[in-house]
Amino acid sequence: MAIGDKPEPHTHAHSHMWLVGALSLIAGLVLLIYVPTLPAVSRTLLLFAGFHLVGALVLGGSLYIVAGARIMRRLGGRRSAKFDFGWHPAWTYGPWVAALVFAAAAVAVQVAAPMWWPLAMVALLFAASFFAGGTITRSSGRYASAVLPMTEFISAGEGLLLDAGCGAGRTTVALGRALKRARIIALDRFGSDYIEDGGRPLLEHNLRIAGLTNRVEIRQGDIMALPFENACLDGAVSVHAVDHLGSQTERGLREIFRVLKPGAPFLLVVWAPGWTMFAVANVLALSLASPRTWRRRTKQAGFTIGDEGTFNGHWFVALKKPEA
Ligand SMILES: C[S@@+](CC[C@H](N)C(=O)[O-])C[C@H]1O[C@@H](n2cnc3c(N)ncnc32)[C@H](O)[C@@H]1O
Repeated sequence: MAIGDKPEPHTHAHSHMWLVGALSLIAGLVLLIYVPTLPAVSRTLLLFAGFHLVGALVLGGSLYIVAGARIMRRLGGRRSAKFDFGWHPAWTYGPWVAALVFAAAAVAVQVAAPMWWPLAMVALLFAASFFAGGTITRSSGRYASAVLPMTEFISAGEGLLLDAGCGAGRTTVALGRALKRARIIALDRFGSDYIEDGGRPLLEHNLRIAGLTNRVEIRQGDIMALPFENACLDGAVSVHAVDHLGSQTERGLREIFRVLKPGAPFLLVVWAPGWTMFAVANVLALSLASPRTWRRRTKQAGFTIGDEGTFNGHWFVALKKPEA
């Protein structure tokens, strides 16, 4: 891919999460209006009131997901001196709302049609899985999880590093704090609908708090057409960005390879199938590429593979552009 070629349309890997809000709105209405009218439910005051309560909670949750949180944040401004990586409601509260819906559905099925108990069990399993997924997703937004494995691998340290797909700067902050003398280019197209305002205002906020503004240059750009000359960077990191490129993944990897100097390291972190991702995304986790596929892709792009492993449920691989 030459610089200047027209980039492919963007893929929005998390856009479907807005569906969570819309679907739970429907589920909330069903739990609030329809389920309490079922004879088996309406006979018991506790169940009758319980379903109204859960329905109202789900409804409130989905409204908050779709718009409420955003409005409140706008009204309140961003006066906080805390890191904010933009992991916001649509996809962090979504799994919890789904857990509530599935738990309520399990109770409704069990009460209204006891002979369908296996279905109630399956709904309960989904509820448990969504609850675990929601908890994991929420915890990934904290600063404590802004930890990169293997930063010593990048620790040639004084050069110019790229954080490709930096988002709101979770990885940039981790990198900047681990490698005190490195200069970093935080690149993103800043157009994601799942990070508030595309991430750039949050990135600026987080870099200020981390005291990194003098060492980090923010660039708007596309991983698939990086705005850099060949072989000009001393290292790169990309966390949960290359796996957002869909059918253009190989192209993104080749671009990163192109801009690295011979011998330069590239730390790649992607979502990979496993129990953690199953908890977070349920059946969607089955569509994730395996480490084997990632090894093949990165080799095809020209990298040599060093260490690899998992941390916090993610898969990382330490790659290198071979010496010329
Ligand atoms: C899940 S976020 C990860 C952000 C950050 N690396 C982190 O771990 O917190 C993925 C980011 O990749 C960016 N991204 C996806 N495709 C991109 C592309 N083709 N070019 C530049 N950035 C891209 C998105 O805009 C988004 O900010």
